[in-house]
Amino acid sequence: MDVIEKGSELCEIIQKWKRAGKRIGFVPTMGALHRGHIALIEKSVKQCDRTVCSVFVNPTQFNDPNDLENYPRDIDGDVDMLRKAGCDLVFFPGEREIYPNGREYTLNFDLGRLDGVMEGEFRPGHFRGVAQVVHRFLELIEPDAIYMGLKDFQQVVVVNKLIKDLGLKVDLVPVETVREADGLAMSSRNIRLSSEMRKRAPVIFQTLMDCSKWIKTHPVEEVREMALKQIRERGLEPEYFELAAPESLLPLNSGMVRDKVVACVAAKAGGVRLIDNLVIKQGVCYFAG
Ligand code: PAF
Repeated sequence: MDVIEKGSELCEIIQKWKRAGKRIGFVPTMGALHRGHIALIEKSVKQCDRTVCSVFVNPTQFNDPNDLENYPRDIDGDVDMLRKAGCDLVFFPGEREIYPNGREYTLNFDLGRLDGVMEGEFRPGHFRGVAQVVHRFLELIEPDAIYMGLKDFQQVVVVNKLIKDLGLKVDLVPVETVREADGLAMSSRNIRLSSEMRKRAPVIFQTLMDCSKWIKTHPVEEVREMALKQIRERGLEPEYFELAAPESLLPLNSGMVRDKVVACVAAKAGGVRLIDNLVIKQGVCYFAG
């Protein structure tokens, strides 16, 4: 596996692969890799001839400087896991490679209402930063496919819009969330949970599952309140719990769920911010991807 820091070296290798007609899969990450990331790598390895993974803790998508500072980093562990998973190249760029003219001079994308709901509302500017960095990687790597985890459902919808709006020739492949045995979605942030909060955090997934039953008999405004109450009772602080249309991600405000919805939640567990979601079709939860 090649371990590369310079964009120029990366481009040389990519061009060589392209000339040889190789299909290139790309997995963007911020490191501190876990089995959820490895599921993305494995899918790319299966579907493509070459797999590239980027590891870059992108400062422009953090609205909270403490969150950026405390974001876990484990370069040696990452390299080890990527090698074992069959990744061909890992790109660890410095900030200059990603923002050659400084952070403020990069492109701004119009994400419409996607930027104002749920994660967009609670993390102002977050998706602008995600769109900037993903666009930069797509420009450098020009992959045939990009693999992204559905735990960040809204991020997948944002990147899909970016690709469609710019007419980019890359397939977006969403990959199912990988969970611990007790249902907690894998996240780089989980290692920051206290042992007490680690025991309580599965209430998030439990509530999503309960929600798939509650929507059969209760209108969305009641389901939302029941969900928030259940999460609070376990000692977590929910930021939002929304039922939204899976394509537009606009939250439903009232009435019974008639078709497919995605239930999305963000909650703090002793200061560690966790998100999760579940796609539900008329009371039956199912896993896309
Ligand atoms: O999901 C992440 O880890 C990040 O938001 C991404 C897609 C790597 C962009 O920095």
